[in-house]
Amino acid sequence: MPVTATLVSSVPARAEIVALPVRSDRLGDEPYDLDWKLLKALGFEGKDGQIQMVAAGGRPVAVVGMGTSAELTPAVIRRASASLARAASGCGWLASSLLDPATEENRSAFAQAHLEGLILGSYGYHAHKSDPKPSKLKKVSMVAPASSEMREAVAKGRCVAEAVCVARDLANEPGGSLTPEKLAAAARRIAEDGDGDGYKLEIWGKEKINAERLGGLLGVNRGSEQEPRFVRLEWDPPGAKGFLALVGKGITFDSGGLSIKPATGMETMKMDMSGAAAVLGALKAAGTLKPSVRVAGFIPITDNMTGGDATRPGDVLRIRNGKTVEVLNTDAEGRLVLADALSLASEARPDAILDLATLTGACMVALGAKVAGLMGNHADFIAAVQQAAERSGERVWNLPLPADYRKQLDSEVADIKNIGNRWGGTLTAGLFLAEFVADGIPWAHLDIAGPAWCDSTDGETSRGGTGFGVRLLVELISRFQPPGRGECD
Ligand code: BES
Ligand code: MN
Ligand code: ZN
Repeated sequence: MPVTATLVSSVPARAEIVALPVRSDRLGDEPYDLDWKLLKALGFEGKDGQIQMVAAGGRPVAVVGMGTSAELTPAVIRRASASLARAASGCGWLASSLLDPATEENRSAFAQAHLEGLILGSYGYHAHKSDPKPSKLKKVSMVAPASSEMREAVAKGRCVAEAVCVARDLANEPGGSLTPEKLAAAARRIAEDGDGDGYKLEIWGKEKINAERLGGLLGVNRGSEQEPRFVRLEWDPPGAKGFLALVGKGITFDSGGLSIKPATGMETMKMDMSGAAAVLGALKAAGTLKPSVRVAGFIPITDNMTGGDATRPGDVLRIRNGKTVEVLNTDAEGRLVLADALSLASEARPDAILDLATLTGACMVALGAKVAGLMGNHADFIAAVQQAAERSGERVWNLPLPADYRKQLDSEVADIKNIGNRWGGTLTAGLFLAEFVADGIPWAHLDIAGPAWCDSTDGETSRGGTGFGVRLLVELISRFQPPGRGECD
């Protein structure tokens, strides 16, 4: 059970630990009875991310640095709250005054970010530990004025953070354990557990996938002992104001196939279904937040293995939309399964399609491990994704899809090949995907190869799968406006 939060008017006497915020430009001036000389002597400067434990009134007090007043945003609160949750992980009951610096305008956004940070900072993946040591933090009393808006913000923070944790658990589960069947079962759990009855679910097995001509998914699955799945999970409320399709790459383990990866490149490849996990997390949140938007998730699922009948470099696959692909590198498998899923999403004629995929190592070369690459065919829809990213505190950067690079994908034997030249691999991957989006449908692509995984705990992301994309998707869905069709590049 993750942390639960209530709004209180003052610090409860029985809380085990108290958190007080200190802004760097208000050091010594914040209205708390703290020993400022001691804090300074300990090197505490109120910097964003800094936490100093002191004792006061017979219990621990976490003095939390918030950075400057001018730069105090929900992102700062979220990060600080996650560090606070780690520092307070030995206590069951936290009383937090972290919302004291909030104003009337930003208080509810701060409250949401505060609880998100506390839950995300308390997260751990313990499924395979003989002696797990989960955080003891169970209960948070947030000192802040109670209003229906504030209660809603706290509920939203909890819902979003729990959805992120679901995505993290899926990404962290080992590839030999999270088979395609089990990832599909996670979709079923979301559809069945949801208190909303607004879900529709279809799960296709291998036979149906064959009958539906998903040649990309079948081609990638060919080297595997595990049967593939194709999941379509939909939140379809009455009176929906728009229709958004989400596509998530669901490679449960990526060995590279016959174009096999070096051993170190495989170490984290259980996370190659992080796009699928983000889509599932967002759909789970939709069942609680109940947006008046139709959201359909299209999720192709298989592992990419090297069995005796694996797809060979040079083989040709026929994708759902009829286009043929020469597979010159079996490690460029994500785009093959996404091609089928984008074709199917296009057939549903949504107002827009957004796909999320751990697609290219090149994106990490370009943007590092914390920022996702964003590409697409429609300026307004790309801008909407950027704004959702900004509001959620998940970072994206817009990259181009240069039309003249498309010729790198020209094939001698098929309609297209699945790799370009050495350079700009993120962009040629994006150009490949664009071939499978039907004309006139606004589409954007997020390459989350970097931010889906985190090597060392930092702010709200802890080591391992991050659940990147869930928060951004929840924001995008909650303010979704159908972008103008016919304005596609
Ligand atoms: N899943 C990988 C991309 C990846 C790499 C994600 C590192 C996260 C961390 C993807 O399937 C892949 O192998 N891409 C190839 C493409 C290449 C063969 C054109 C890559 O990036 O090397
Ligand atoms: Mn690969
Ligand atoms: Zn992959």
